[in-house]
Amino acid sequence: MTQRDLIRRLPKAELHLHIEGSFEPELMMQLAARNRIDLRFRTLDEAKAAYNFSNLQEFLDLYYEGMQVLRTEEDFHDLTWAYLQRAAADNVRHVEMFFDPQAHTGRGVPFGVVTEGILAALKRGETELGLTSYLILSFLRHLPEEDGFALLKGSEGWHDKFVGVGLDSSEMGHPPLKFERLYKRCRDMGFKLCMHAGEEGPPQYVREALIDIGVDRIDHGNRSMEDPALIQVLKDTQVPLTNCPLSNLSLCVIRDLKDSPVKAQLEAGLMVTVNSDDPAYFGGYIGRNYEKIADALTLSDAQVVTLARNSFAASFLPEAAKAKHLAAVDAAAR
Ligand code: HPA
Ligand code: ZN
Repeated sequence: MTQRDLIRRLPKAELHLHIEGSFEPELMMQLAARNRIDLRFRTLDEAKAAYNFSNLQEFLDLYYEGMQVLRTEEDFHDLTWAYLQRAAADNVRHVEMFFDPQAHTGRGVPFGVVTEGILAALKRGETELGLTSYLILSFLRHLPEEDGFALLKGSEGWHDKFVGVGLDSSEMGHPPLKFERLYKRCRDMGFKLCMHAGEEGPPQYVREALIDIGVDRIDHGNRSMEDPALIQVLKDTQVPLTNCPLSNLSLCVIRDLKDSPVKAQLEAGLMVTVNSDDPAYFGGYIGRNYEKIADALTLSDAQVVTLARNSFAASFLPEAAKAKHLAAVDAAAR
């Protein structure tokens, strides 16, 4: 079996995926027409030409612009359903999906419209594709902590629909401790805690997320590798890192895929996973992320299998479900 075949056959979980970042320009143009909204881009080529970023903020500006055309429950359903079909084609069996409610409620789209549209597609994914999913409510870190508390209150009727919370958007200048009280509240409410940290921000941000806040998962975490003591904590605690190779390359977090920390993290015994982040913007869904990183770092087949195993081990699934998926990974690897 070639490594390509192995990657295709391996069951995977995707743990770092922003549903709004799976908005393909083709669908964006369709929804713009359906909702009679003018987009800055007239053609697909024009849109794709803009997908050229030198940092996180340049991407975020376009990401928030693109999602303006998402207005109705049907729009959020169609967006989510398109992602699930692509994920299933890459043999994703379980997804833990971020969404950014404040980016929608802030422009007048009610929380219920966003959430019910996504949930309808997730339900369909389970019945039609056998793909299970958890939803993660993400706070925008460039906004005040107070706004996060308001989101928590505004989403009260849906709390049983979320496995946890996340923190995304502009990292620099918005350290984890800005959200210390909000995260304490979320923990007390029983939510799992995720946070983007160390994508652009310094190792200190990862420390705050990991040690001061006590998150269950670190999203990205690249810059942890600058701090040997932090690497040791990640190894001892096995708190997962959700790496996103093509995202790192697109946003100039790394200059070349060969500079990705994934292999070093595997070799250091960290609980690292590979994910797509915002696949419509960064040139590939999860299968392509596995392929590209395996090629660039000359990962062994055993290391590729470890990445697939880690994706389930690092998920928020109950232990019995994890065991079932891990057995399927091992069967596919034989
Ligand atoms: N980083 C921060 N915020 C985000 C990202 C990311 O990679 N994707 C979507 N929002
Ligand atoms: Zn992300």
